[in-house]
Amino acid sequence: MTEYTNILVEQRGRVGLVTLNRPEALNALDKATMDQLVAAVTAMDADPGVGAVVITGSSKAFAAGADIKEMASQGYMDMYAADWFRGWEDFTRLRIPVIAAVSGFALGGGCELAMMCDFIIAGDNAKFGQPEINLGVLPGMGGSQRLTRAVGKAKAMDMILTGRFIGAEEAERSGLVSRVVPAENVVEEALKAAEVIASKSKPVAMLAKEAVNAAFETGLAQGVLFERRIFHSLFASEDQKEGMAAFTEKRQPEFTHR
Ligand code: CAA
Repeated sequence: MTEYTNILVEQRGRVGLVTLNRPEALNALDKATMDQLVAAVTAMDADPGVGAVVITGSSKAFAAGADIKEMASQGYMDMYAADWFRGWEDFTRLRIPVIAAVSGFALGGGCELAMMCDFIIAGDNAKFGQPEINLGVLPGMGGSQRLTRAVGKAKAMDMILTGRFIGAEEAERSGLVSRVVPAENVVEEALKAAEVIASKSKPVAMLAKEAVNAAFETGLAQGVLFERRIFHSLFASEDQKEGMAAFTEKRQPEFTHR
């Protein structure tokens, strides 16, 4: 079993909660943190007792980026040979729904990690930014692609080229975050949303996530066909029978595959 030194891992009912825990470095995402986070959430993905995951940081920082001190002295061949950041691809392949609960700084890799989650709930003190340009680099964990898809070219260019931070309100207005809540409630609100998701059929939630993600990978006609085929396939599941029977019988559904 992996020993977790940089994250705290808990389970609340059917919800997994992972808290980044490197306060001395504002939760900078070094390789150990990436490996531990990916291992913890991969285990939750496979655990039938977990239906959704929340990832959070501290009240001051969700994460202040990739670990600059760990990268500073690396050469090109080191970065290439290690395929630096490749581990994050495993995070993006998770099938379980993942919510980012962001308080404080979500910068560089921190903003990119939040964007790798399925949606972001932000505290009103949240600050998002891609300040890599100030370090003589550019985003390296998918920021130039995911931020552009989330907020459009104008704002992505503005943030990535100037390195300026945006607050929670601007982030919500731009479509980067799904809701803004008082900072002190951000984890609680994310846990509540995760509980709602975890009360549904887990395979159906996973398929719904896959269908939304297809919007980013395919054209409209292909994406709509993908969605319709999944929709048809669900009529082979007990959970569809139960969900629709419960509606007709005016009761709450009891899903089998949770
Ligand atoms: N990597 C390593 N250490 C970091 C860090 C990071 N990304 N961010 C903060 N820290 C460390 C600081 O070095 C400091 O450590 P020491 O006490 O040992 O000096 C500690 O965390 C506290 O930070 P500050 O004293 O700087 O705190 P502050 O409140 O004055 O400022 C901040 C907060 C504005 C977030 C500032 O820390 C900051 O600018 N951090 C870097 C942000 C950044 O550039 N992120 C992008 C990283 S590169 C990247 O992420 C690449 C990619 O695309 C994946």
